[in-house]
Amino acid sequence: MKLQNRTFIITGATSGMGRAMALEFSREGAKLILSGRNEEAAEELLSLLQTEAYFLAGDVSDPGYNQRLVELALEKFGLLDGLLTNAGMLGLGSITDLPLETWTQTFNVNLTSVFHLLKASLPHLQKSPNASVVINSSIAAFKSFPNHPAYCASKAGLVALAKQAAVDYAPHVRINCICPGPVDTPFIHASAVAFPDPAKAVENAGRNTLVQRLGEPEDIAKLALFIASDDASWITGSVYTIDGGILAKG
Ligand SMILES: NC(=O)c1ccc[n+]([C@@H]2O[C@H](COP(=O)([O-])OP(=O)(O)OC[C@H]3O[C@@H](n4cnc5c(N)ncnc54)[C@H](O)[C@@H]3O)[C@@H](O)[C@H]2O)c1
Repeated sequence: MKLQNRTFIITGATSGMGRAMALEFSREGAKLILSGRNEEAAEELLSLLQTEAYFLAGDVSDPGYNQRLVELALEKFGLLDGLLTNAGMLGLGSITDLPLETWTQTFNVNLTSVFHLLKASLPHLQKSPNASVVINSSIAAFKSFPNHPAYCASKAGLVALAKQAAVDYAPHVRINCICPGPVDTPFIHASAVAFPDPAKAVENAGRNTLVQRLGEPEDIAKLALFIASDDASWITGSVYTIDGGILAKG
């Protein structure tokens, strides 16, 4: 097992990619603190995990909540080996239509939340011999989508944050970023609302990849596992697109 007894916090853990990451990491022996907002989905997920895991409900944009996630990891496990920062929101609307509150909330949830969690956890991650942080951004950091200004800009911020933090916290903590393309989760259907024909937009998103399908949450979880594990011990400050070839296609 690649993560035997390693301890991770996963945000956005109760659905989509975060849920797939929790299942994949647990299969590989990791102990988990799960962050999310849906108690029922969390209960169901906890029942499926093969390792020790705890759920703490809250809003990732709240600095105090991020502090409590780290405290729970230390209380239950005694140490913290890694983070999967994965919670995100869309905040749709073109600049002229977008209320400042939505812009600010999108940045708070997508980007500043990662600052809060890193701030609370880095002093402890630095004590781990194998610390690894995986930040879930998006190809929206590199490719524009209509009516997604707050989303694209906040996801681009995550790419820069991952690379910068990797410099300050080397060599003890590896920090990397993953940038998925269209993945079959509730999120992509919510995103498609920004297009004139949402159903067609989802269909096209899969068809427009070089491999001609949407990503599955498990595709992303496998990449997160590789980066979090010692197989990636020489990888830090890197940015991985995982998009079925969309960016290559142009
Ligand atoms: N699905 C895609 O096509 C796609 C592509 C690229 C990147 N992403 C990113 O992947 C990540 C996971 O999304 P997903 O596709 O699995 O969708 P999802 O909707 O299944 O998961 C998003 C999760 O974030 C959580 N979340 C949102 N706001 C929160 C808040 N304020 N506090 C706590 N939790 C909050 C939600 O509760 C949910 O669990 C997101 O950051 C998203 O931007 C998604």
